[in-house]
Amino acid sequence: MEVTVAKSAGFCFGVKRAVDTVYREIESGEKPVYTFGPIIHNEQVVEDLENRGVQVIHSEDELEGLSGGTVVIRSHGVSRDVCEKIEARGMKIVDATCPFVKKIHRIVDEEGRKGRHVVIIGSADHPEVQGIMGWASGPVTVMHTAEEAESFVPENGKPISIVAQTTFNYNKFKDLVEIFLKKSYDSTVLKTICNATEERQTEARAIARKVDAMFVVGGRHSSNTQKLYEICKEECKNTYFIETLVDLESKPFQSFGRVGITAGASTPNKIIEEVQKMSEMSFEQMLDESFKTIRNGE
Ligand code: F3S
Repeated sequence: MEVTVAKSAGFCFGVKRAVDTVYREIESGEKPVYTFGPIIHNEQVVEDLENRGVQVIHSEDELEGLSGGTVVIRSHGVSRDVCEKIEARGMKIVDATCPFVKKIHRIVDEEGRKGRHVVIIGSADHPEVQGIMGWASGPVTVMHTAEEAESFVPENGKPISIVAQTTFNYNKFKDLVEIFLKKSYDSTVLKTICNATEERQTEARAIARKVDAMFVVGGRHSSNTQKLYEICKEECKNTYFIETLVDLESKPFQSFGRVGITAGASTPNKIIEEVQKMSEMSFEQMLDESFKTIRNGE
């Protein structure tokens, strides 16, 4: 069987960097280690970190009862205010904000200082956007619909600077920018959308087109994994959602000549490798493994 694993499967650069940072902090032996919010939307990873003593701080209010220790900031980043609150508790910050997000923090700070009104295209309730807003040093407005763009008026006629949440849909962003340009405001558009998601989807589609079966590995609650599944299913009718290895065992994949594998942004490499290993096994090897498992009483 020929197995193709998407190069872009799994963690993007920013998420991998943040997860690695937490494990490095654990290894350093300095305790306690906290993360501000779950480091990633993957229960197994968060559970593994908890078993190693890492605690999740869920809100600013929870900081009140804490002092000392290390707080790792996840890839979404946090506002300046949250950083100050953490430091005020005598806690050390290890900043694993994705550099692409950090760049937006710098932009909104600088543009505000230049006297510009910053427009963030994204979801106001997303932690990344809340973090970005918290670095603005002037007027800032978050929006994501055409109606909001139509009715927007900059404060005191200020020039505007437009940025986007890193994962915002590019076409939708372009449509909203068009609205601003039509209104003839003095506007600067800064390209801040990260293409990691788009690259993952484009590669998954290309692989799904060429294989007999496609495995999409990831959590059922992960929206980007679901999107990958939909894309692959359009190209390959034998597309399967694999959450754990048990899902794989029940699939008739031994009858396929070419198999493709991709995975959502919060799927650890270890799980992708296990799915790959299992897909590459012959039927006899699989039976062998099952017997070993039975002998070991697992
Ligand atoms: Fe990932 Fe950073 Fe892009 S967290 S999706 S590489 S902005």
